[in-house]
Amino acid sequence: MQPAEPTAPADTAVPAESTGPAAVIVLAAGAGTRMKSRTPKVLHEIGGRSLLVHALDAAAGTAPGQLVVVLRHERERVAAHLAEHAGDVVIADQDEIPGTGRAVQCGLEQVSAAEGTVLVTYGDVPLLEAAALRELVAAHESAGAAVTVLTARVPDPTGYGRILRSADGSEVLGIVEHKDATDEQRAIDEINSGIYAFDLAVLRDALSRIGTDNAQGEMYLTDVLAIAREDGRSVRAVVTADLMMVEGVNDRVQLAQLGAEMNRRILTRHMRSGVTIVDPATTWIDADVSIGQDAVILPGVQLHGATDIGERAVIGPDCTLRDTEVGEGAEVVRSHTLLAVIGAGASVGPFSYLRPGTDLGEQGKIGGFVETKNARIDTGAKVPHLSYVGDAEIGEGTNLGAGTITANYDGVSKHRTTIGRHVRVGSDNVLVAPVTIGDGAATGAGTVVRKDVAPGALGVNAVSQRNVEGWTLRRRAGTAAESAAREALDRSDATADASPAPTAGQEKQENEQR
Ligand code: UD1
Ligand code: CA
Repeated sequence: MQPAEPTAPADTAVPAESTGPAAVIVLAAGAGTRMKSRTPKVLHEIGGRSLLVHALDAAAGTAPGQLVVVLRHERERVAAHLAEHAGDVVIADQDEIPGTGRAVQCGLEQVSAAEGTVLVTYGDVPLLEAAALRELVAAHESAGAAVTVLTARVPDPTGYGRILRSADGSEVLGIVEHKDATDEQRAIDEINSGIYAFDLAVLRDALSRIGTDNAQGEMYLTDVLAIAREDGRSVRAVVTADLMMVEGVNDRVQLAQLGAEMNRRILTRHMRSGVTIVDPATTWIDADVSIGQDAVILPGVQLHGATDIGERAVIGPDCTLRDTEVGEGAEVVRSHTLLAVIGAGASVGPFSYLRPGTDLGEQGKIGGFVETKNARIDTGAKVPHLSYVGDAEIGEGTNLGAGTITANYDGVSKHRTTIGRHVRVGSDNVLVAPVTIGDGAATGAGTVVRKDVAPGALGVNAVSQRNVEGWTLRRRAGTAAESAAREALDRSDATADASPAPTAGQEKQENEQR
């Protein structure tokens, strides 16, 4: 088997018409103590999904008749997660009898078929792929085997069950667990991945005959192989070269390692389908993200959740996008977005923060140091500099001056700001919501807009400016400012001897201002 690249993620729902095995049983009853976590192991995430949802996705990809998940540890929490994130799965509850054999036996109680192939996989093996499972089923069924186990040759087999083969290596005799193995058996480097295809009838029968007489006092699923063989049935192995694909997560070190490997595979898939990723080492993309052809992902980018990047869009450097839709040819630079829509040809950043409900139209612009939330910014509209735009609608072709703020919150409730088409809002405006500025209107710089501005009107309320001549020369004597002013005045007014003497009225005004 080639080190595989993941195919596009499938829905975890089982298709109505099964063309695959009778059932897949996914084991997820274990406690996962080495995670040292209050969260059940299978709910830890890599690539933006839980380990369990990754495992179910692979299982569902075989189009099984039934998809069964065996639970025990934190049963309710895991079941709630399944209800939210997985399609048509059947939960089987494992009882207090421990071991993988018992887990499968409990799973089989939920399997309605009497014959056919049953796959067994683990809920904590996130890189497993549907294609590998389909190959396992095909090999198993074409050989007419009773059991086919997926194995791998590994540099360090410590802890794994070892595959026992006949002297010439052609036949699989059974599996011995590490804890039960002799030194000689521990030298075997072919390990049991824990993923198998079984003949359903053989599996039911063999499980009814296994005991707990072993180092761990558990019902071992692995014992089924020796039983089937003693009954004269065919037991086979499929060896995979892709070690990471069958590796399970036991602790947080492995969680990070498999997370990095999954990311590497996801990036490879996108690059193979025509996306430029300039620096894979600093790029993180979740499993469910989609990216159009000829998009360019610059260094330091994280794309999370259901993010969807259009063709030819350029993202980065240094962006985090979650559940964000980016249109064709749009550009996002050094920004953070969450549940936002960025239209085709629009541009965002650098250094902007798009919060949920931001909807930037085609060719629109959210420039530098802008925060937006629940805001529709229509086609070609621009919020270029240093603004907060929340609970607002901004019409087509409108421009907000630098430093415009929507004051949407009065301390009790949130209110909307509505700005029409082709409006020019001056710099440093505060738009006190609820307020409406009509189509084609304008506001002066520094306006605090408390009243609606009619279409085509100019809204201004800034206090008119008054200059007190010579103020610095009198009030800031001896400072650098004074000499700068004096020099400038001397230069610009060469004919004047000195600054005019202040009138009594000017002196009075200045004192009032201080
Ligand atoms: C098991 C195999 C071993 C194989 C290894 C691969 C057995 C006896 N041994 O070892 O040959 O090399 O997997 O990782 O099968 N689980 C349950 N209920 C239980 C016990 C386990 O659902 O009572 C689930 C766990 O949640 C986990 C999986 O089965 O997803 C494997 O359990 P784990 O304890 O990790 O298996 P090992 O004993 O290490
Ligand atoms: Ca394990």
